[in-house]
Parts: sequence; C-alpha cells; structure tokens
Amino acid sequence: MKVLLDGATIQTRVRALALEIERDYPPGEEIHLVCVLKGGFMFMADLVRAMSTRISLDFLAVSSYAKSTTSSGEVRMLKDLDSGLQGRHIVIVEDIVDTGLTLTYLQEILRARSPKTLRTACLLSKPSRRQVDVTVEYIGFTIEDHFVVGYGLDYAEQYRNLPYIAVLDLQ
Ligand code: IMP
Ligand code: MG
Repeated sequence: MKVLLDGATIQTRVRALALEIERDYPPGEEIHLVCVLKGGFMFMADLVRAMSTRISLDFLAVSSYAKSTTSSGEVRMLKDLDSGLQGRHIVIVEDIVDTGLTLTYLQEILRARSPKTLRTACLLSKPSRRQVDVTVEYIGFTIEDHFVVGYGLDYAEQYRNLPYIAVLDLQ
C-alpha cells in the first residue's frame, strides 16, 4: 500500500476546513453536523475538535445501491437521524464523493426536512468519476481515480483505523 496523504497533512487540512466552515455562518448560530457512517466517523471527530463555535452533531447510515445493480444512486437509510432538521444549519460530513450519486440522493432526502441551510463537507473528491453534478461546498483533497483506504475509508470493512490515507492495490 502506498501512502497518499499522511496523518499530519490530513490534520492540517481538516483544521483549515473547520475554520472555513465556522467563518461561513453567522456568529452564535449553531451548526448541526450530520456524519455519514461509517466512512465519515474519523473526519467528523477531527473536524469538530477543531471547531470552537456552537455545534451539535448526529449520525446516519445509508446503504448504497449505486455500485451493485443500477446506477440510480438510490440509497436506503439504515440508521436515521435522532432529531429533525427544520430551521437548522446542516453540514453533511462524508468521507468521499466519487460518482456523486449517494450524496445527491442524501441531499434530496435531507433537504425535504426543511433545514435553514444545507451544505456538504467531503474529505476527498474523485472528480474524474463523477456521474452527476453534485454540490460539495467543502472538499479536503481532490484525488486521482484510485481506490483509497484509511482514515475512516474501508475495503471490505478493513483499514478504517489507519491514521493516514493509502492507495489500495486491488490486483
Ligand atoms: P458515490 O455515490 O459513488 O459518490 O459513492 C460514494 C461512496 O462510495 C463513499 O461514501 C464511499 O463509501 C465509497 N467509496 C468511493 N470511493 C471509495 C474509495 O476509494 N475507497 C473507499 N470507499 C469509497
Ligand atoms: Mg461512505
């Protein structure tokens, strides 16, 4: 496995993203961060530790049909949020945007719950793989079309614990 982004590089970028997000909201207004499990858990943990404004957080889990059968991007909610989104500033926190299908669908679901604002933060983006033009306001790193693991991202549930991001050779 080849290290693509080491731990220090990720930490520096995540801290910068946290400050950028904070600056984009009116002072004193709470930001509600919604983490997409499981891949987003480590990014979420580091992001919120670098924020000093008023935040709250919640978690959801989806199963994607995008890769298996059709490329409809339809997702099934495996674990829904604990609280409603109405009138709140929502930031979706996701590990990676690849085809964009999962996020597009998720944004639709959450937008229907009438948040005051809805934005998305992804640690990684693979623009060369995009199938739909999804809006992601905060992107940590833009990467080439490699399959990556670590820092929350898995291959068959392995490698999520790595404190860095590596390219997995799938041969
Ligand atoms: P999309 O609908 O194609 O954008 O799918 C995004 C989801 O696919 C992410 O949330 C990841 O769970 C998974 N995924 C995409 N690329 C990778 C990768 O390189 N490593 C690990 N998971 C990935
Ligand atoms: Mg994911």
